[in-house]
Amino acid sequence: MSTYLGLDIGTSGVKAMLIDRAGKALGEASAPLEVMRPQPGWSEQNPADWWRAVLEAVDALSKSHPAELARVRGLGLSGQMHGAVLLDDADAVLRPAILWNDGRSSAECAEIEQACPEARAIAGNIAMPGFTAPKILWVKKHEPEIFAQIAKVLLPKAYVRLLLSGDYLEDMSDASGTLWLDVGKRDWSDALLAATGLNRSHMPALVEGSAPAGQLKAELAARWGMTGPVIIAGGGGDNAASACGIGAIQPGDGFVSLGTSGVLFVSNDKFRPNVEGAVHAFCHAIPDTWHQMGVILSATDSLNWLAKITGQSATKLAGAAEAQFKGPGAEIFLPYLSGERTPHNNAGARGSFTGLSHVTDPARLAQAVMEGVAFAFRDSQRVLADAGTRIDRLLAVGGGSNSQLWLKMIATNLNMEIHVPHDGDFGGAFGAARLGLCAAEGADPRAVCTMPEIKSVITPDAALVEAYSNQYARYRALYPAIEEATA
Ligand code: XUL
Repeated sequence: MSTYLGLDIGTSGVKAMLIDRAGKALGEASAPLEVMRPQPGWSEQNPADWWRAVLEAVDALSKSHPAELARVRGLGLSGQMHGAVLLDDADAVLRPAILWNDGRSSAECAEIEQACPEARAIAGNIAMPGFTAPKILWVKKHEPEIFAQIAKVLLPKAYVRLLLSGDYLEDMSDASGTLWLDVGKRDWSDALLAATGLNRSHMPALVEGSAPAGQLKAELAARWGMTGPVIIAGGGGDNAASACGIGAIQPGDGFVSLGTSGVLFVSNDKFRPNVEGAVHAFCHAIPDTWHQMGVILSATDSLNWLAKITGQSATKLAGAAEAQFKGPGAEIFLPYLSGERTPHNNAGARGSFTGLSHVTDPARLAQAVMEGVAFAFRDSQRVLADAGTRIDRLLAVGGGSNSQLWLKMIATNLNMEIHVPHDGDFGGAFGAARLGLCAAEGADPRAVCTMPEIKSVITPDAALVEAYSNQYARYRALYPAIEEATA
């Protein structure tokens, strides 16, 4: 029986996942990645490291699951969104990729909106420094000799695709995060491209996420022992791909993603831009479908930061927080280590702890960090609701969702049930494998991208709803002061 491979080019690592025709996971492998922070607020990776990690992960699968890998017929890609890979006319990488959580290009965002006053309406989004277009304008201004050599701008997974198949292709969901896409029309916008001194020749061709988009190079198929032609799907930005993994493709279906970033995602039947409150409105990875999301830049990244500076593991810290948990304490954390997108759109915002005292210890700090992220999700829910968006059902994805306490805090703050799937990873790599299956077999993505079986439902803790509402009010009151202090 044929098998399908999903590759997720994440920020903290590359993950490869192998599934069968029924969508059952057969095996997985991953390889870690580091982020370079050459200046405060900057965030970069070398595209060569993504490729090394892809080779490492798939090579590992070819050792652990040679028979299953031999039968791969479809391959799907999921990727960290927004990152700018700059290539010259010989496909050489011109500089390290500037990532989704890099905040250097605030000034350029204003310039784009000045040069193209209808930018928000076309792109469905405020120009935010995380997006690709302002990064290019920053390069044009600060590294003009590099800008002059740009022949193509690719997102992370499109760069990996180029090495896998030799094609310049991007899917609609990831393309939405560039700020060059007319998101309603699912086409590049000449006006938005012109605002950054680029044109269509700099862009990859566009394709739907579940559609065929090239074929794996013969030498790579041979390296991995794959016997037949391998069709590569358009794939998805990691959030849209996760939605395909978790089955959030019908209007009102959504998920909470607790990964490096935090995302509150909801599928929409049509393009629903709502730039107030910095809501993102993007194409989904399947045809005729869109989605909205609130994006928190540092979710598990905040707990990992605390783990690093306290010399403990994030799992140990979360466990310690759970062991002493009695409801919100005095400590409050604002998770703005890399600035924030939703709802503040402020790359210059910075994190903070307040309410520290002699009783504060790492466990209490960990609790405050987890609560700060839960409050940030609550902010996203608030601005989505302000825009009239209905969320019917929420599932949990991402590494942080292994913590029951964290999910309980989020459920209580959103005052919504959170459905936790049976063991397994239903994130970007799994969604990408499903898209690979659709592309290779011509299968209907709506039939393939179903919801997994639910293991448990995390309900809001009625006894803590009010305490958390009060703590959330304190949390919200802190931001204006922090904004002023860090301006
Ligand atoms: C979404 C975003 C993040 C990245 C993480 O807009 O920036 O969720 O996709 O990989």
